[in-house]
Amino acid sequence: MNLNKIGFKENRTIETIFTIKNKQDYLITPIGVWKEKSKLKSKIYSGNRLFEKIKEGDKVGINLTNDPEFFYKSIMDEEIKNNGYKIKQANIFIKAEVKKIEDYTDFIYVWMDTSNVQKKSIDPEGYCRARQSIIEALIHYTKLDIDLEHMKYIKHYMKIVEKVGSKWEKDLMSKILEEAKNKNQEIREK
Ligand SMILES: Cc1cc2nc3c(=O)[nH]c(=O)nc-3n(C[C@H](O)[C@H](O)[C@H](O)COP(=O)(O)O)c2cc1C
Repeated sequence: MNLNKIGFKENRTIETIFTIKNKQDYLITPIGVWKEKSKLKSKIYSGNRLFEKIKEGDKVGINLTNDPEFFYKSIMDEEIKNNGYKIKQANIFIKAEVKKIEDYTDFIYVWMDTSNVQKKSIDPEGYCRARQSIIEALIHYTKLDIDLEHMKYIKHYMKIVEKVGSKWEKDLMSKILEEAKNKNQEIREK
């Protein structure tokens, strides 16, 4: 499978969901991936559970989906059905192998080779800003520990979803805002 055809044009970052084996279970984490010199590459920050685990240089499942609910569930540690490395509902599944780690202490670059790409046939869908807004809000949620200023962006994306989203998207966004307020509170109390 040509990686270009599934969006990996050189240096273009695709938001994916990584699965990596952790004892009997799998760590399921959203991670950005791009193609560089015909390999897939990611930047993983320390503090992320994947950081130490992936340094062991193992196999990685890279799951592609446009569904913001999966990003939500993986961030909030809610159960996601997976067949091994593959998340059942992923539209595209890539089996990859870690080839090289560049360690910069606060973050690592992970270089991966792909061995298998599976693609589901899906009907094209019109563009709605709600999906992207939810994913952006989740990214800001994961950055709250670094700076509480991120709260402001979550509220901004909430407004967009309120305007253009359907009920399930509004409900999902309300849960993110709720979780963000709790996290905000916990950080302030520390
Ligand atoms: C869409 C999206 C993309 C993300 N991409 C990355 C990434 O490329 N690198 C990274 O270190 N963290 C990334 N994150 C943040 C991690 O997923 C987040 O720190 C992690 O889920 C926290 O989980 P932990 O409990 O394993 O630390 C991303 C989050 C989202 C929502």
